[in-house]
Amino acid sequence: MAKEDPVRYVCVNCGFSTVTRTGKCPLCGQWGTLEAAEPAGARSDKYGAKAEVVSSVSVTPPKRLSSGIHEVDRVLGGGLVPGGVVLIGGQPGIGKSTLLLQVGGQVASRGTSALYISGEESAAQVALRAARLGVSSEKLLLYCGGDLEDALSNVRSQNAGLFILDSVQAVRAPNETGWPGTPNQVRAAAQLAVDVARAANVPAVLVGHITKDGRLAGPMLLEHMVDTVLTFSGEGYSSHRMLRAMKNRYGNTDELGIFEMRENGLAAVEDKSGLYWNRSDTAVPGVAMTIALEGSTPLVAEIQTLASPTAFPYPKRTSRGMDLNRFQLLAAVLEKRAGIPCGGCDLYLNVAGGLSIQDPSADLAACVSLASALKDKPLRSECCYLGEVGLAGEVRPVTRVMARLKEAERLGLKRAVVSGKERGEFWGPKEFTGMKIQRVDNLSEALSDVF
Ligand code: TYD
Ligand code: MG
Repeated sequence: MAKEDPVRYVCVNCGFSTVTRTGKCPLCGQWGTLEAAEPAGARSDKYGAKAEVVSSVSVTPPKRLSSGIHEVDRVLGGGLVPGGVVLIGGQPGIGKSTLLLQVGGQVASRGTSALYISGEESAAQVALRAARLGVSSEKLLLYCGGDLEDALSNVRSQNAGLFILDSVQAVRAPNETGWPGTPNQVRAAAQLAVDVARAANVPAVLVGHITKDGRLAGPMLLEHMVDTVLTFSGEGYSSHRMLRAMKNRYGNTDELGIFEMRENGLAAVEDKSGLYWNRSDTAVPGVAMTIALEGSTPLVAEIQTLASPTAFPYPKRTSRGMDLNRFQLLAAVLEKRAGIPCGGCDLYLNVAGGLSIQDPSADLAACVSLASALKDKPLRSECCYLGEVGLAGEVRPVTRVMARLKEAERLGLKRAVVSGKERGEFWGPKEFTGMKIQRVDNLSEALSDVF
């Protein structure tokens, strides 16, 4: 069945246009001014529009509004874009409201009015948090309540240069049935907020809750309606939070922002690699370093393994921070291809600092770390290992090797072991002055240097 175009409504007073019929225009605040502009099915007027030559379309880079928090700006690709809508998703209690109140406070303190719409908390609760965060600008405006139409009419009337909607699940969209938070309501609420942001040409940030399995609650459509989708995440036991872009029409999705939740709000963590790496002078058997990619941010990761002889016929293998099957496979490859038996030992692997590594570039580090644990001999200190290990024991290239090597050099590592198949034209002696790059083709070669 062909789907009809939705009817659009246009305000006869201010020209605001939306697909959600509202009694009160959310832009100019007038009542009963929205009229159907385009009845469903009446589409003849749309035909005849000419396609353009791409290169002839004039482009001016959007003038961005800084969020006032450097890490947030970086993840956004340089700041908020007028008329652009950001959706930030994260589990309850992770710190979304805290982060956005800080953003609102920063923007306001730099002279742009920011409107914070809270559908979840009372004014007293938000004000209490603002006090805790030290946010006290006169230009930070607060609207508490679930009536979205009414809330959004403050954008124009209060001349806000940014609005934050916390959250799309907690507000009621006009003329839509169902409780707030139901798919229809969420879609309509988000659409209205997007329409207002576009019409008023101000940036907007919408908060979205996510379900247990990490998806944004409500319709999938939500991600398509907005320009940027950010996720805010962290482990329960840690005070660190990660901000990432999953989609960004105004920048790339490579940047990672790390924050620490403190007593007075979120503080950016500048030295990210330091989080997962204990600089220690004494070399311990079973510890190898690699440079993993989080999104595309290179982070140093310390892989630790322990091997202890077992009397049982089925030795134990456990792994934290790396897939257990992968670890078992690597142990088998090490035994078969490099001749280091591990059958009689219980094996434990841990990635320090709670980092979880998905990409196979940590294979080589896991293998040498295991060999070092089994032989009870420490590895070279200040050395990192970058390579995927195949079933034949071959060491394969990794993605974005240059970015990883640059990070290793920045941290002051003295040596990096990489695959001999890495394209070598990138690094000559000029490229890395303080670090030796060693190329190996297989596991035995990587280990012969050590043992
Ligand atoms: P919150 O921003 O309300 O999370 P969300 O909006 O994602 O549900 O904050 C959640 C937690 O952060 C809360 O349990 C208390 C803690 N917190 C701090 O540790 N320091 C602070 O300065 C603030 C405001 C909150
Ligand atoms: Mg909240």
